[in-house]
Amino acid sequence: MIKDAQGKGVKGPIQANPGWVGAEGMQRLAKLREKLREKELDTLLVTGEQNRRYLSGFTGSAGALVITADAAVLITDFRYIEQATGQAPHFQIRRHDDFLQTLEEVLNEHSCQRVGFESDIVTYAQYTKWRERLGQIEWVAAPGLVEELRMIKTDDELDQMEKAAAIADIAWEELLPQMKPGVTERDLALELEFLMRRKGADGLAFDIILAAGPNGALPHAVPGDRPLQTGDLVVMDFGARYGGYCSDMTRTVVIGEACQHTRTLYSIVLEAQLAAVAAVKPGKTGIEVDNVARELIIQAGYGEQFGHGLGHGVGLAVHEEPRLSPKGETVLQPGMAVTVEPGIYVPGFGGVRIEDLVVVTETGCRILTNSTKEMLELGQA
Ligand code: GLY
Ligand code: MN
Ligand code: MN
Repeated sequence: MIKDAQGKGVKGPIQANPGWVGAEGMQRLAKLREKLREKELDTLLVTGEQNRRYLSGFTGSAGALVITADAAVLITDFRYIEQATGQAPHFQIRRHDDFLQTLEEVLNEHSCQRVGFESDIVTYAQYTKWRERLGQIEWVAAPGLVEELRMIKTDDELDQMEKAAAIADIAWEELLPQMKPGVTERDLALELEFLMRRKGADGLAFDIILAAGPNGALPHAVPGDRPLQTGDLVVMDFGARYGGYCSDMTRTVVIGEACQHTRTLYSIVLEAQLAAVAAVKPGKTGIEVDNVARELIIQAGYGEQFGHGLGHGVGLAVHEEPRLSPKGETVLQPGMAVTVEPGIYVPGFGGVRIEDLVVVTETGCRILTNSTKEMLELGQA
């Protein structure tokens, strides 16, 4: 069983949040305050669940942070007071019975006037209500401020992600002997989920994609009742969540012996994946890395069948910045964690996708996914 970050074992509802510890948490607040100064905001109201967790350490599902130059307040309700007090020691915890009333009190106490809000997360209904009730405040759209900080992971965050990736690797290896003709996609997905949780995952990073034969041509297929058949390509895309952090990997295997078409598809995707991983370096843009894989797949004649981006950032969310895609302008920096996942999808036949989670280092990248990428032919008598 994998233990918590301190190696002390037992997890409970008020455990210190391993992705957020003392000095590091304070640094996150300091960096955010710098951004507030740049944007001439005196306050940021943070309501997004992952942003809230990232800044405060609080893992509850409801609450808001009010961050000013010298105050950090967490407003939540009765259900979470004890938990918030334990998890967010650097925040003043305020209980609310009426959120807007308490928010107004807190904003007044700290003389907040120009208040940024996460315009990419807040709903129109919330925004309208805030403006109606707190009309004296100048509400300023401030999207992506915390997300920008979240792009660069600290060693402690990477530890969580490495464990999440290791859980997925081990679970997959244990699933392989069960992959034979007759077993359904749904049963295999269920078993894979069970194995990951059994190995210590908090839960799934996202719903498992496990698609056999022609279903594999749907990049985001939902596992169904189709039994595996000899000759199928089976795409398995899954990840564990550990300490709040996600992993994300895909492997594609063959049931029985691979035909020539299958071998060709697999070798093109593998070559593109290896080349793209080798291209991940600080200073490169997402566009440049995407293009390495895309060019190889285009040259092989399957450009139209690779219709998605090469990869994406991973962290508290399974999909976050930066993007490795034809639109991914962000320049890679050490500490960014991204996926590299080219694929080819042939309607009526099937798909191949191979995905690793990697971390950008000073000189290139470190691969967190350790499962083999050889083409496995499984379930043969
Ligand atoms: N779960 C879809 C992906 O790999 O991004
Ligand atoms: Mn994936
Ligand atoms: Mn992915």
